[in-house]
Amino acid sequence: MAEKEVVETSEAQIAVHWGEEEYYYPSPKFIAQANMTDEEVYDRFSLDNFPNCFKEYADLLDWYEYWDEILDSSDAPCYKWFKGGKINASYNCIDRHLAEYKNKTAIHFVPEPLEEGYQHITFQELYVRVNEFAALLRDFAGLKRGDRVTLHMPMIPELPITMLACARLGVIHSQVFGGFSGRACADRIVDSGSRVLITADAYYRSGTLLDHKQNADIAVDLAGKDGQTVDKVLIWQRYTGKASSPTPMVDGRDFFVNEELQNFYGARVEPEKMNAEDPLFLMYTSGTTGKPKGCQHGTGGYLAYTAGTSKYVQDIHPTDVYWCMADIGWITGHSYIVYGPLAIAASTVVYEGVPTYPDAGRAWRIAQDLDVNIFHTAPTAIRALRKIGPDEPAKYNYEFKHMTTVGEPIEPEVWKWYHKAVGQGKAAIVDTWWQTETGGFLCSTLPALQPMKPGSAGPGMPGIHPILYDDEGNEVPPGTGKAANICIQNPWPGMFQTIWGDRDRFVDTYFARYCKDPKSTKWQDWPYMTGDAAVIAEDGYVRILGRIDDVINVSGHRLGTKEIESASLVVEEVAEAAVIPVNHEIKGKEVELYVALKPGFEASDALAKKISDAVCDEIGKIAKPRMVWIVKDMPKTRSGKIMRRVLASISNNQDEGDVTTLANPEIVAEIKKQVQG
Ligand code: WTA
Repeated sequence: MAEKEVVETSEAQIAVHWGEEEYYYPSPKFIAQANMTDEEVYDRFSLDNFPNCFKEYADLLDWYEYWDEILDSSDAPCYKWFKGGKINASYNCIDRHLAEYKNKTAIHFVPEPLEEGYQHITFQELYVRVNEFAALLRDFAGLKRGDRVTLHMPMIPELPITMLACARLGVIHSQVFGGFSGRACADRIVDSGSRVLITADAYYRSGTLLDHKQNADIAVDLAGKDGQTVDKVLIWQRYTGKASSPTPMVDGRDFFVNEELQNFYGARVEPEKMNAEDPLFLMYTSGTTGKPKGCQHGTGGYLAYTAGTSKYVQDIHPTDVYWCMADIGWITGHSYIVYGPLAIAASTVVYEGVPTYPDAGRAWRIAQDLDVNIFHTAPTAIRALRKIGPDEPAKYNYEFKHMTTVGEPIEPEVWKWYHKAVGQGKAAIVDTWWQTETGGFLCSTLPALQPMKPGSAGPGMPGIHPILYDDEGNEVPPGTGKAANICIQNPWPGMFQTIWGDRDRFVDTYFARYCKDPKSTKWQDWPYMTGDAAVIAEDGYVRILGRIDDVINVSGHRLGTKEIESASLVVEEVAEAAVIPVNHEIKGKEVELYVALKPGFEASDALAKKISDAVCDEIGKIAKPRMVWIVKDMPKTRSGKIMRRVLASISNNQDEGDVTTLANPEIVAEIKKQVQG
């Protein structure tokens, strides 16, 4: 029954189905300078050499005490990597670079308003600011090793500074995407048990200075009602010394960071010697059920994996200018704006605003000004930039040696424009497939070693061994053209350790379905189920088709259908809700919401808006449905289950198939008329 439901709401059914493409080869110039050109890397990282192969990644880091066991699987599938090792992430991202790079830019900050210019934060300045803020967190906020703290911050340099200050103390940070609502932030405060919230008063989005402080008030209030008291709110000011939010401060609870920082001038904080397996951060993500899951990432394994993949897949050298145009509020930003790049002494760009503000040339102007040579973004942004300014890149003087796509499947046509127009036909491209849970890349080509194939992510990364299983648990070999559930046969250092406070859910969601023996302590018995459908071609290249569960990928952002449905049920008139994905030219997918009302209520435009507003309040504007359809009744099976598949076909103008076995087949034609006119 449960499994049937998964299949019926499958996004894979309406996923992309393009054919296999020709290979594209990296240029000799790129290969000549690449960090990884050793073809034997795949042998070294074969299953026969697992798990010892990952020593190579651990050795990219500085350890206070070297580990004595590479992988402890005694509590499988909760693994401990580099056991016995002692390490600090903040030290590895900052202190150890000072001798050679203290005068080099660590973070280039690009404010959204054009007139504000750029800020270049050197490793020395990063060191000073992280230390002073860490002292504040410890001595003013009373935070210590193992405590959790919720961050609800926009894309300003104070966000990585805050994360690295937490890491310095061994405080587990949980950054909530800045665009999420106060309610969504409250849920994460409660689940993580945070008594301190760190936020900012305001930030720019598409030319408007948004009041962000108001979300903190909502979050703290709602968290309090749910039993979690926040006793301090630390607020970074968008303009230091100037109030940018009209929302008043709450006496004794709210503090401006820059005012308190005056007491910590010159403070230095010894980095905590953390156990390799101590948690570094939580990142909440959407899944099959309503409640977001706190993916818990460890310190040594996560940092080793993100450092290794930043070096070999992103091909970052300390002399490069690297720009990942993602938000640090998502895993991409954690792994590939902050931790991975800084661990290998990159200069990383943090851009506050939207890629198309004030026009379609903005991204390329930033690239020209900073001489960015590695560029990383999501297909949604590429589709948008291609649509509104296909000829813009040619107007600017920059040269990318390397480009990345992440987060969604990229259509070959869009890939080719990216390659030709943005990358001038010269840049090596990697299409990186991975997840919040996995910490770092799962599939991608190694850019100097393998050709690119538009529309395909590429083979498993060194040390990552993908496998396809059908619903019965049989292996589907490469080259059959058959889509199946993609799993990873082995653990790896970057994978999450558990769901915060819910080991059972961790095991059930990701391992139960294909586990060979639930009592086993051998990793071989615990394939990791990613929740994606994929095909693997004969050459071993993986093409991701989409989610097999109730997750919708809107502009590369992961939204849970159940989360949106429960948000709409907050509206008292609503009896039932069903969320379905609709194909969209730029965003990949959009959300449409179908609702049926309780008896005695009438449909109206005002009510539809009220429901849409409720979704924004509960989750955030990113979840705003494109349409709210108030229908007389939902199409249902005889057992009363809502047929989301039928609704999805109607919204996507596809054939809804045989509906005669429904309990109320007549409703289908009625809804179709309402939606399609
Ligand atoms: C999808 C983002 C196709 C996939 C890093 C996955 C992709 C979900 C790709 C995770 C890609 C990510 N090609 N699909 N290169 N990368 N996805 O947790 O469905 O926000 O399961 O992590 O995005 O989204 P998340």
